[in-house]
Amino acid sequence: MHMGIRVVAQTYWRKTVARIVGGIGTSHVPAIGAAIDNGKTEAPYWKPLFDGYAPAREWMQETAPDVAIIVYNDHASAFSLELIPTFLVGVADEFQPADEGYGPRQVPVVKGDSKLAWHLAESLILDEFDMTIANKMPVDHGLTVPLSIMCDQPSEWPCQVVPLGVNVIQYPPPTGLRCYKLGKAIRRALDAYDDDIKVVIFGTGGMSHQLAGERAGMINQEFDQNFLDKLSHDPDSLAAISHKRYIQEAGAEGIEMVMWMVMRGAMNDDVKEIYRHYHVPASNTAAGLIILENAN
Ligand code: DHB
Ligand code: FE
Repeated sequence: MHMGIRVVAQTYWRKTVARIVGGIGTSHVPAIGAAIDNGKTEAPYWKPLFDGYAPAREWMQETAPDVAIIVYNDHASAFSLELIPTFLVGVADEFQPADEGYGPRQVPVVKGDSKLAWHLAESLILDEFDMTIANKMPVDHGLTVPLSIMCDQPSEWPCQVVPLGVNVIQYPPPTGLRCYKLGKAIRRALDAYDDDIKVVIFGTGGMSHQLAGERAGMINQEFDQNFLDKLSHDPDSLAAISHKRYIQEAGAEGIEMVMWMVMRGAMNDDVKEIYRHYHVPASNTAAGLIILENAN
């Protein structure tokens, strides 16, 4: 009898939905993954970068999300230039690490959350974001390096992952504003998901960098710091950054930062910055990391 009342009370008074317990922005530099895989994180070049990741990894352990939605880009690993989805959701039960030319990274297989992924696909498409549905695809450094940055080298990744792909490889990529709006649509989808799960959302890529051409190696610390400063309290101004400004100020590959706007869009308007780490250089880029939590 007593139990019956509790069940009824739960059903009527406590709406259970997926909760976003954190938003993470992080670079995805492949050399960071290689430093971890090859045991170089204590080397003088890498140590200052990895020392700065320690508090983020602690936060990840304490937060213990059930699922990570990882907004990332494929670098012509799963998709050649023959087929380029602007936005995609990976709905498979697992995703193998991609072979990017040196054999696949020796990291655990990425376990999907098919139920949540299909819910996202349906909700986003009904919400006018025409997602490509990926039933099978390998995932490259764009997804596995952020996992390594936040989780180190576990024998299994500590949470399920929904890969959410964004084209930033072939022009025209979506705008930062479109990405920001996609984030808001992801939030609406999570608010309508009936399972009581803890979700973190990653926005990955960047920060400023250019890999080829006359400006190869360019880094713009002022642009990056401004981006990190404004992400919490003035995201609208970042959502207004045009493709041309990204290229001029953050380098050709700086456009990857539009993926951080998906993460920001999924968070509350009011957020708290929990942690920030910015280090130059990491390979050809500035490596940035930020953790946000919703403020109520
Ligand atoms: C580098 C950075 C990237 O974002 C990437 O996808 C590949 C290489 C680099 O800095 O080397
Ligand atoms: Fe990249």
